[in-house]
Amino acid sequence: MKFKQILFLGLVILFSSCYYDVEEELYPTNISKCDTTNTKLSTKIKPILIKNCYVCHSVSNSINLGGNIDLETYTELKKYVDNSKLLMSIKHQSGVWSMPKGTSYKIPACDINKIEYWIKIGAKND
Ligand code: HEC
Repeated sequence: MKFKQILFLGLVILFSSCYYDVEEELYPTNISKCDTTNTKLSTKIKPILIKNCYVCHSVSNSINLGGNIDLETYTELKKYVDNSKLLMSIKHQSGVWSMPKGTSYKIPACDINKIEYWIKIGAKND
């Protein structure tokens, strides 16, 4: 009886680890396929911010919902680029608030990659 219980437990662990492997194959992060060509603020970065951040961080919403942090005005956005908090917050690194706020949700890895690349090439207002 005891042996059967151990065997059963063993099988459960075996199958759950197999399931985990398969899940990883089904949802790869695909970072190598992330297209960063022609990365510009207006065409590639703004849409990500509009979709994920401006509900709280647009000029008008930031007052009530975004802790007075406006990420729509370029000079304000640039401040958070320069103090590293923009990137740190979307990567959920310690020392800053994780964004988007209120959930453990991270924006897609490719979007993070695009923002990181835009910063790397100078975070221009283009
Ligand atoms: C639901 C509202 C909401 C959303 C959505 C949201 N934020 Fe925030 N964010 C806040 C608030 C409020 C603060 C001020 C700190 C606090 O009270 O948590 C903040 C703070 C920040 C800070 C400063 C962090 C620090 O530790 O000083 C950055 C940078 C930031 N947000 C970036 C973003 C980005 C980028 C997105 C989109 C990917 C985003 N936020 C989405 C509400 C939000």
